[in-house]
Amino acid sequence: MKLVRDFKVAGYKWLNESNFIIELQSAEDLPPIHPGNFAEIQVPGNPNVFLRRPFSIYDCDLTYNTLSFYVKIIGEGTATLGKLKQGDTVNLIFPLGNKFDTETEGPVLIIGGGSGIAPFLLLGKELKEKGIPMTFLVGGRTSGDVHLTDVFGQYGDILITTEDGSQGTKGMVTHHPVIQEESFPFKKIFTCGPDPMMKAIAEIAKQKSVECEASLENTMACGFGACLCCVVETTTGNRCVCTDGPVFNIKELAW
Ligand SMILES: Cc1cc2nc3c(=O)[nH]c(=O)nc-3n(C[C@H](O)[C@H](O)[C@H](O)COP(=O)(O)OP(=O)(O)OC[C@H]3O[C@@H](n4cnc5c(N)ncnc54)[C@H](O)[C@@H]3O)c2cc1C
Ligand code: FES
Repeated sequence: MKLVRDFKVAGYKWLNESNFIIELQSAEDLPPIHPGNFAEIQVPGNPNVFLRRPFSIYDCDLTYNTLSFYVKIIGEGTATLGKLKQGDTVNLIFPLGNKFDTETEGPVLIIGGGSGIAPFLLLGKELKEKGIPMTFLVGGRTSGDVHLTDVFGQYGDILITTEDGSQGTKGMVTHHPVIQEESFPFKKIFTCGPDPMMKAIAEIAKQKSVECEASLENTMACGFGACLCCVVETTTGNRCVCTDGPVFNIKELAW
């Protein structure tokens, strides 16, 4: 069930000058939140930002009724979200979208590019509860794009790539030895990040005959299937990422 609800800004954690975690608190109980779900956030106090902005739910705490979002500033909406004050009101439509399928024996490889790691904390928590071992492969252009490895490290091994070599292995995630080596111990890959990265990973998953789910971040407007601006071509025709996704098994995608 989708809810439209006001939250209060409970606090921020800044990771650097352009990446932050914002925690929002509801006065009422939260519904169940699943790994992969997202919210459409109405950006308050900026008339230029008319449409809601979609963000993966990074974390939730059902005791304190809080939802957290990991936000990378790329434009006016995300910048405005970074300038709110504690106690400000933010309206959310949530929980939206489908969820990752964690029915696997594991181990699993979780690949996030930049802010694409956002949906993977809740996934890591669910996999850990099921006793499924996981390795996170986190990629960025530079070390300033790689965050929260200490948090994710509580759930699995951490591997890092940066394109400029400032942290971890130099190159893109697809260049990491864990992907390149002949032996591949993983039973499933989960990925989220820029489309070209996910397409390259999908190709590798097909070559290795490994299950793979990708969480797509197509540009969205309405968030509930009305405007068709988020469509993705699948093997069964065009589908809306906001209502049929954002998580797709790569076998469904016409990539
Ligand atoms: C399901 C979903 C989950 C997402 N989760 C997160 C998240 O957890 N953390 C996070 O930081 N971001 C996430 N995003 C992306 C986020 O929604 C955009 O960064 C945000 O809407 C940009 O708003 P803005 O007003 O700051 O920038 P705009 O002014 O709207 O855009 C600035 C520039 O970025 C481009 N752009 C905008 N949105 C996207 C997009 N989705 N993909 C590629 N380019 C885009 C625009 O074309 C423009 O060139 C998610 C997107 C989707 C669809
Ligand atoms: S965002 Fe409008 S249909 Fe998906």
